[in-house]
Amino acid sequence: MQIDALTLDSPFILAPLAGYTDLAFRLLCREYGAGLCYSEMISSHGLVYRQQNTIDLLQSVADERPVAMQLFGAEPEIMAEAAAIACELAAFDCIDINMGCPVKKVIKRGAGCALMREPKLAAQIIRRVADSAKVPVTVKFRSGWNHHSITAVAFAQMAEDSGARAVAVHARTWTDGFSGEVDWGVIRAVKAAVKIPVIGNGDIHSHEEGKRMMRETGCDGVMIGRAALGNPQIFRAGAAMLPSRHSRLTALGRHLELIARFFAVERVLAKTKNHAGKYFKGLTGGAAIRARLYDCKSFAELQKTVAAYLGREDL
Ligand SMILES: Cc1cc2nc3c(=O)[nH]c(=O)nc-3n(C[C@H](O)[C@H](O)[C@H](O)COP(=O)(O)O)c2cc1C
Repeated sequence: MQIDALTLDSPFILAPLAGYTDLAFRLLCREYGAGLCYSEMISSHGLVYRQQNTIDLLQSVADERPVAMQLFGAEPEIMAEAAAIACELAAFDCIDINMGCPVKKVIKRGAGCALMREPKLAAQIIRRVADSAKVPVTVKFRSGWNHHSITAVAFAQMAEDSGARAVAVHARTWTDGFSGEVDWGVIRAVKAAVKIPVIGNGDIHSHEEGKRMMRETGCDGVMIGRAALGNPQIFRAGAAMLPSRHSRLTALGRHLELIARFFAVERVLAKTKNHAGKYFKGLTGGAAIRARLYDCKSFAELQKTVAAYLGREDL
């Protein structure tokens, strides 16, 4: 898959997940074969006001590239300035604009999926960001606002005309939230309507299913979100639907190494345990392992516990 001059070595892409897709997790998914990883959503206001916790979200290293930084906001001027600041402070390959987030806090400010109800404003935002960014701009949105308003095709055409170099479509509406059926027909219709690459998204649970989405909708790439949590192996061709315990512990062990490389480990302990717990979802005996990991009082104890599990022959 190609976004402008950027060639991805795999069409499997890590979706932006607030609270999860930080540098360590993105790099881990890259190591397992993801062709491109998206950052957590980054507040345009936070960047413009140069808030340190927002700037921290831009943290990146050369080994993880290509990487996309995702911005959210509703004011064209602020979004353009934020894009310029991001380009000045960090090296990355794409800027994505969040036009799909359904969360109240974001919608209330007219950002995220609310922009699907304001296509003229959305067009201005895309145009201004594309003019000020030094990298290609992508846009992520949904099927539409609700089932009476499935506007993804017109929205994708608007994005293309406004300067977007690829679009990602989460084929659910705002009213669907994160459940309800994903409509592959919407992805197929968007693909037929634009020339820029189309990334399909929503409920892909395996590499195989992702390939089927590309085959059946014609989309150029697939974006995987929740199914990658605790399962970065999903990006590997031929990966088992349910990884073995050994494979899970190996991936988690590597994840912990990367967290230790980039972050102040004790400060991110709660978040780390949350990530760690995901590795044992759906595994027989997983609840006991999860409980043990949640009990750890320090990062070092967590790391030791994972290493001990890994060394056990019976797992
Ligand atoms: C915990 C969580 C955080 C998310 N954060 C973002 C975000 O920051 N930006 C965004 O565009 N979408 C965000 N999403 C939506 C995902 O990127 C994706 O579109 C959605 O989860 C559907 O894909 P999936 O079924 O593969 O998870 C988030 C979803 C979840 C569950």
